[in-house]
Amino acid sequence: MLDFSGKVAVVTGASRGIGRAIAEAFAESRAEVVLFSRNVALLEQVKDVIQGRGGKAYICEGDVSNKEHVDGLVKFVEERWGKLDVLVNNAGVSPHFKSFVKTEETDWEQMLNVNVKGMLYCCKGFFPLLKKGDHPSVINISSIVGIVGMARIAVYTATKGAMSVFTKSLAVEWAPHGVRVNAICPGFITTDMTAGVQSVEEIKRQILARIPMGRFGSPDEVAKAALFLASPMASYITGHCLVVDGGWLAW
Ligand SMILES: NC(=O)c1ccc[n+]([C@@H]2O[C@H](COP(=O)([O-])OP(=O)(O)OC[C@H]3O[C@@H](n4cnc5c(N)ncnc54)[C@H](OP(=O)(O)O)[C@@H]3O)[C@@H](O)[C@H]2O)c1
Repeated sequence: MLDFSGKVAVVTGASRGIGRAIAEAFAESRAEVVLFSRNVALLEQVKDVIQGRGGKAYICEGDVSNKEHVDGLVKFVEERWGKLDVLVNNAGVSPHFKSFVKTEETDWEQMLNVNVKGMLYCCKGFFPLLKKGDHPSVINISSIVGIVGMARIAVYTATKGAMSVFTKSLAVEWAPHGVRVNAICPGFITTDMTAGVQSVEEIKRQILARIPMGRFGSPDEVAKAALFLASPMASYITGHCLVVDGGWLAW
């Protein structure tokens, strides 16, 4: 088991799905974890689960696309710990599948604001605290569609492509400051985000046929990759996009 005792981790979008699994995994590994999202009721449930297992969790309510909310999150961490060791930019939204020409500008704005701007606000806001962290690192939750294209979610893929390349650029820029920056690119993971495609039998069958391992991944399989990237085991890894996809991109 990896030991994150004495470390502080912030996970955006920790109320459900992949973010929740990552938050629980860091808490199980003895980090103090700050849970951030818009839904306090769900965050309370996650906090209760973590505390019930003897872990430490704190709640910050906010919208990651709202700079003032992110500033509040940064202030919360600064006042309590004065440093940050792990930042996981996980909060994200995806649209319903439809052709690009049928997408609305309001959809584009929402995806760009949450998936990209939210990550930018967090990285910029937390940089001074990350520099004071213990072997600090940032993990951006991108996607396999941050590496390859996919029809009918073109704008979502644009936001994930931005996350993947931003990860590399920031890794180069922040290496002299001792801050590693990596991304995880999940394939199809069972969460609320993929409930729609899983509910249509024909689409689900087509997706499963494309995955060499023949199944969707689970959120905790992504969480294990996050623990690894934040740990001393990944001490020489920065600017990397770690694919967790059951083999989707292998062919
Ligand atoms: N599931 C997959 O197959 C898959 C594959 C590749 C990449 N990803 C990426 O993994 C990340 C997590 O996805 P998921 O599948 O776990 O999705 P999910 O189950 O829909 O959860 C999304 C999380 O993001 C939070 N969130 C959304 N908008 C937010 C905002 N404006 N401010 C703060 N938090 C916000 C939600 O919290 P609240 O609603 O409580 O605010 C929730 O905790 C996303 O970045 C997604 O693009 C997922």
